[in-house]
Amino acid sequence: MTTGSVHFRDFDSAEFLREYWQKKPLLIKSPWASWSNPVDPDELAGLACEDHVESRLITQSDPEWELEHGPLPEDRFERQGKAPWTLLVQAVDHHIPSVAALLDCFRFVPNWRVDDVMVSYAVDGGGVGAHFDHYDVFLVQGLGRRRWELGGLCDENSELLPHSNLLLLADFEPTDEWILEEGDILYVPPRFAHRGTAVGDDCMTYSIGFRAPSRAELVEDWAEDVADQMLDQDRYTDPQLAQQDNPGEIGSEAISQLHSMVTEKMLDQGSFMRWFGRYNTMPKNPDIDWQPDILASADDIRQSLVEGATLIRNPASRFSFVREPQSSILLFVDGQCFSCSGDEAIFAENVCASARLTVEPDASQPTLDLIAKLFNQGSVALDL
Ligand code: SIN
Ligand code: CO
Repeated sequence: MTTGSVHFRDFDSAEFLREYWQKKPLLIKSPWASWSNPVDPDELAGLACEDHVESRLITQSDPEWELEHGPLPEDRFERQGKAPWTLLVQAVDHHIPSVAALLDCFRFVPNWRVDDVMVSYAVDGGGVGAHFDHYDVFLVQGLGRRRWELGGLCDENSELLPHSNLLLLADFEPTDEWILEEGDILYVPPRFAHRGTAVGDDCMTYSIGFRAPSRAELVEDWAEDVADQMLDQDRYTDPQLAQQDNPGEIGSEAISQLHSMVTEKMLDQGSFMRWFGRYNTMPKNPDIDWQPDILASADDIRQSLVEGATLIRNPASRFSFVREPQSSILLFVDGQCFSCSGDEAIFAENVCASARLTVEPDASQPTLDLIAKLFNQGSVALDL
């Protein structure tokens, strides 16, 4: 597994998936060929001051913890007192290529399960407290040292501290404890209680975060999409209505007919697949417009490829595909669906597999058209 200078030297991802993924925590002593912290604290603090970046500043004031949402004023950090604090910035991979490159080492998990890389900075004693997350996470120690304590599995009945909007656990009994050094990784499956505390100042942790849709969200959002395509006149009819003894009864035949009005639409796996691909690749932050200032035609793309340009995916873009019969595929990028066949399908598979790729300038017209569309929606760029 190699990407630029960031790669694992010593990590068996097949064994990891078999033995640990979604099953049990794992401490991975620095598996990198070489480790260097991908973003410095000042750059992280700068991101937390920007409008379109989601960030939180957590201070362990006595008696209650304080939570402040970004964007933070530029002089905010000068005003921090002596109480331990931590800054957390979401989706740093979308803005800093060296952080995005970290993700390439974790592509043994499919793109559609990846969420983002959150980066935290803490002073001595800082942390977010004991909690559990609904998602898998790899906690990569970037700079300095952090003590991680791990407890058992939690659920919606686990008691939380009353005051806190930080969702901190009321009873946390650690069963394991490690101090992570630079480059070490702790994998924590969903719902395991954990607490990370900075040991010394300048502690930075990279959370490689995943996502898993809830059943409620799938039902709600898929049903909304199905409903949007229904006509208002598509209604219940009962031309054979029979006289019934009690007008209050909703008859069993009516119930079956009503139920099938819903289920026959929801059972269509083809339209579910098209919807899910679009839904799952919607940008995490739709408020950011990544479109280029100057749009490109397929000819412009060909010209850049002739000049040796490499195609690079926007790290904020989401790429996935599904296979269809007759070796065609549906490519999903940032909420858009592209039906691809022939060498366009091969290109689509390649662009889903690598964040950076070379495309031959003699690529077919449909492939160049597709690249131009991806370029114009800001999902790929050309690097000369
Ligand atoms: C942190 O980086 O301090 C928090 C990460 C986590 O516990 O999920
Ligand atoms: Co956590």
